[in-house]
Amino acid sequence: MKTLITGGTVVTATDTYKADVLIDGEKVAAIGKDLRAGGAKRVDASRKYVIPGGIDVHTHMELPFGGTFASDDFHTGTVAAAFGGTTSIVDFAVQDFGQSLEKARDTWLAKARGKAVVDYGLHVIVRDVSDKVLKEMATMVSEGVTSFKLFMAYPGVFMVDDAAIFKALARSAEIGALILMHAENGGVIDVLVKKALAAKHGEPKWHALTRPPEAEGEATGRAYKLAEMAGGVPLYIVHLSAAQALEQVRLFRDRGLPAYAETCPQYLFLSYDSYEEPGFDGAKYVMSPPLRPKWHQDELWRGLAKNDLQVVSTDHCPFCMKEGYQGLPKQKELGRGDFSKIPNGAPGVETRMVLLYDGGVVAGRISLNRWIELCCTTPAKIMGMFPKKGTIAVGSDADIVVWDPKATQTLSAKTHHMRVDYNPYEGKKVKGKVVTVLSRGEVIVDKDKLVGKKGRGRFVKRGSPALS
Ligand code: URP
Ligand code: ZN
Ligand code: ZN
Repeated sequence: MKTLITGGTVVTATDTYKADVLIDGEKVAAIGKDLRAGGAKRVDASRKYVIPGGIDVHTHMELPFGGTFASDDFHTGTVAAAFGGTTSIVDFAVQDFGQSLEKARDTWLAKARGKAVVDYGLHVIVRDVSDKVLKEMATMVSEGVTSFKLFMAYPGVFMVDDAAIFKALARSAEIGALILMHAENGGVIDVLVKKALAAKHGEPKWHALTRPPEAEGEATGRAYKLAEMAGGVPLYIVHLSAAQALEQVRLFRDRGLPAYAETCPQYLFLSYDSYEEPGFDGAKYVMSPPLRPKWHQDELWRGLAKNDLQVVSTDHCPFCMKEGYQGLPKQKELGRGDFSKIPNGAPGVETRMVLLYDGGVVAGRISLNRWIELCCTTPAKIMGMFPKKGTIAVGSDADIVVWDPKATQTLSAKTHHMRVDYNPYEGKKVKGKVVTVLSRGEVIVDKDKLVGKKGRGRFVKRGSPALS
């Protein structure tokens, strides 16, 4: 089956040019002017951009957290991803205490199989860094799971100590894996949380007030230092939110160390002010790290422009505000009166591409090519999926989005596809819109209609990170 995308402007991380794109089966077969292909299905892209499908390397479908589960599963979450122009996600399997990494991976594969509409890879969250687990990491790498997340926060739940981090970092270098770090000082945060609760401060804003940016800055610096002591091994900080953490990234990168970091749209577009919304509404924004005072946003944009931040992912981890929404159990409500019990996370897998286009490209903060680099190409490279994913090139998977640069839309829970009853950007008007989405050559979204079948998404075996 051949498909010819005609008349569009191809945008990659490096180039912008008018060309047709010919797809043969699942792959890009040719890119050029006035291509001909008898019998090919045609996709008209005139006056549109033809971009690589987005790669979101940080999602949590059905993540168990605080007695409930993130409200999107691999079906609803990947449908939302597709509508937003994202054709691959990398989700986080969670290792239970004492569990093998294989078992954790298989549990997540079972969640995804038969449900995902776009392709997916997996990282594993490691909670228990035993000698056995350190050995298993190599097996995981050989089977396409090439990254492992560790936490410096949530004592007793996810947090591991410096010795464990050090061992995992050293091991990652031996086997060609990458450690992803949740960098917040969990010990300090725990003390602050207990103190706030003892003073009867239960409102959502106290989530942010007890997780100061310095706790993120300290942990970020410590994590990079541990990576340096482990032999100067690469380390990738996830969901970086604060100027204090970015300062550490800069420090280590300027010294030539392989320090990498991602940020997320919520830290670029939302701020601490959202926690001051009336009643319990601040719970919508309870995530970790929390939203920061507005001035941090300019620093993060500068970090993206200067490549101190290399990736924008979403940390998509939705929990509903209303009780019983679509039959889901009580979620954010679990923490009414006690902010420490509000499940951490917010939705975003559907809105990343357009927020970065509108607030980045249209607003003049980043170039069109940098948008693609941040949202598609570098995530694919760092997570070992390039050049199969993350670009438009002959031989690459035909994961392609036809993007209307002039169309406008209003973000809203009334129209989004994420299984969650609020949108953090409710009512925000943005420029840019997905028209057609192809995944491995198959049209899966066509003009606001889902045509991709449930379960068509495939597990992506990833290689070692390609770091530059
Ligand atoms: O609040 C967040 N970020 N929830 C998801 C888990 C994590 O730490 O990424
Ligand atoms: Zn995290
Ligand atoms: Zn996360």
